Amino acid sequence: MWGKEFMAKDIEKILITEEEAAKRIKELGEQISRDYAGQEIVVICVLRGASIFFADLCRAISVHMKMDFMAISSYGDAQKTSGIVKITKDADTSITGKHVLVVEDIMDSGYTLKYLCKILNDRQPASVKVACLLDKPSRREVDITPDYCCFTVPNEFVVGFGLDYKGLYRNLPYIGVLKPEVYAN
Ligand code: PRP
Repeated sequence: MWGKEFMAKDIEKILITEEEAAKRIKELGEQISRDYAGQEIVVICVLRGASIFFADLCRAISVHMKMDFMAISSYGDAQKTSGIVKITKDADTSITGKHVLVVEDIMDSGYTLKYLCKILNDRQPASVKVACLLDKPSRREVDITPDYCCFTVPNEFVVGFGLDYKGLYRNLPYIGVLKPEVYAN
């Protein structure tokens, strides 16, 4: 526990507790299970931020699924406006004719998911939908909305539950706001 207490000193406030996240993810899983009732889906985790949410969400979904993983890296800001991201690890599962659910930790500007959905749609799946743990609509720069979303958050620096700052804080069990002095230096 000392590790989490150590990290907690960098957290200004808790936005979403462990219990609130668990409850909402369970609800979302039930909704997704109803929507895809009787169908098989391919659930794709976008590494690395979505990993914690993905693990919980998959266990809350009761239809048959195959799990797969993709990793992407954003280019610098200049290229970001072009909406292009680089795939560093592709999914191994063929998605042609399949129902695909992309799982992300956060939708911010929307560039990443817009591009990812385009790439996946080019593979002729039956459908592509997006499930996000968090949505930050105030930061949106492209026209995209998650099909499923657990929480809408304000424009603050959120970490925990998979979300990081410089690769750290992902293992905090809740979603918190990072103290500005941590990232100001
Ligand atoms: C984060 C997040 C999304 C993307 C959202 O990834 O996981 O992939 O940014 O931002 P956007 O809507 O503005 O495109 P990040 O590059 O931090 O990688 P990570 O998942 O490994 O933390």
